[in-house]
Order: sequence, then structure tokens, then C-alpha cells
Amino acid sequence: MKFFVDTADIKQIEDLIPTGFVDGVTTNPSLIAKQGKDLSDTIKSICSIVSGPVSAEVAATDHPTMMEEGKYLASLAKNVAVKVPLTVEGLKTCKKLREQQIMVNVTLCFSAAQALLAAKAGASFISPFVGRLDDIGEKGISLIEDIVIIYENYGFETEVLAASIRTTQHVIDAALIGAHVATVPPKVIYELYNHELTDKGLKAFLDDWAKTGQSILSK
Ligand code: E4P
Repeated sequence: MKFFVDTADIKQIEDLIPTGFVDGVTTNPSLIAKQGKDLSDTIKSICSIVSGPVSAEVAATDHPTMMEEGKYLASLAKNVAVKVPLTVEGLKTCKKLREQQIMVNVTLCFSAAQALLAAKAGASFISPFVGRLDDIGEKGISLIEDIVIIYENYGFETEVLAASIRTTQHVIDAALIGAHVATVPPKVIYELYNHELTDKGLKAFLDDWAKTGQSILSK
């Protein structure tokens, strides 16, 4: 499974690159607004340090303007994936941009029917929002499961990108189901490292090591 980082914070992305867990980045208008920086500059900066797909979202809601915005965003760097919402206008835009070999991430997916339409429109990625479905009392991860099955049934090449990931369990569940990608906030990526037995075991090893009085590098 590929890991994308769900943030527009350059510092957080830079810090995560040495971990090897930055196969791509996803941004959205809310994440851009949180940084308070220029969209184009932010996307260019992220693309200069990340070689995988970097999602940048259109802000228009009509097809002609989405096309203009999408082409502009794609011109910022060769690894930009234009993000469009799952609407009629968004999927028209997806189809047209894909005809021009531009990567497209279809976002705000909340049903398997929507995911089927996105695949037929040639989406490079579909982003089902797990956490936001959990928020309204549904089981978000079940949607990922349904989409993986539907795409496998017909051999669609659209990658299932589990989004709105809030917990380590979401990541595990997405991996068990076979999601191609999970876009994970930095905080949750760091939480994936944690296990209390790792901390406890490390402490015991270091305590015993100290008793030996040895130093590995002293010779
Ligand atoms: C990423 O593509 C999505 O925009 C993001 O995962 C949404 O996450 P949220 O529901 O936590 O805002």
C-alpha cells in the first residue's frame, strides 16, 4: 500500500521524507487555507521535494472553469494530480483532463455508485472519505471494501485512495481490504510507529545494557 501525506505543511512533509513514507501528498482547499500561503507556491514547493503524485484541488464548480483551473494546476509541476469533486461537472472535467493525460483524483466520494462513475470517467484515483462517514454513524471502511470489490470485478485501473483517515485502525483496515493508497495526516503516521510493548521492551534492553558497562563504539 502506498502512503500519501494528507497535509499542505511543507515542514511536516520535509520531516517525513527520510522515513520513506511519502509516496505522494494530498491537499485540499481547507488544508491550503490552514497554511495561509499562496496555493501555486505551495504546490510548486511540495512538488519540488516529492516525486509522487501531489493532489491540488480546483475551486470552481462549473466544467469550463474547472478545466481552466485544472490545466493551470497541472502546469505547475509534472506530478500534480488535479483534484475534482464528485459532481456531474467534476466528472466531465475528470474525463477531459484524463484525455489530455493529466492525473486526476476524484474527491468527496461517499458511495460505491459514485466510485463506479469516477472509474468510468477514467479517474486516476478515487478518494472515499472514511472518517467523515464514521462521523455520521456509518462504517466508512465498508465503503473502501465495496469499491475495491467493484473495481476488481471490472479491472478498472483507478486506484482506491482511502481518505479522511483519522486513526491507526483506519490505516490497518484499509490495508487489510487492499486499498491501493491511504492518505494519512502526519500525526497518524507517527502514531503508526507506537506500541507500548516496544517502549517497554526497549527500556528493559537499555537498562540491562547499561549494567554491562560496555559501549558499542568505544573500541
Ligand atoms: C484528502 O484527500 C481529503 O481531502 C482529506 O483526507 C479529508 O480529511 P478530513 O475529513 O479529515 O478533513
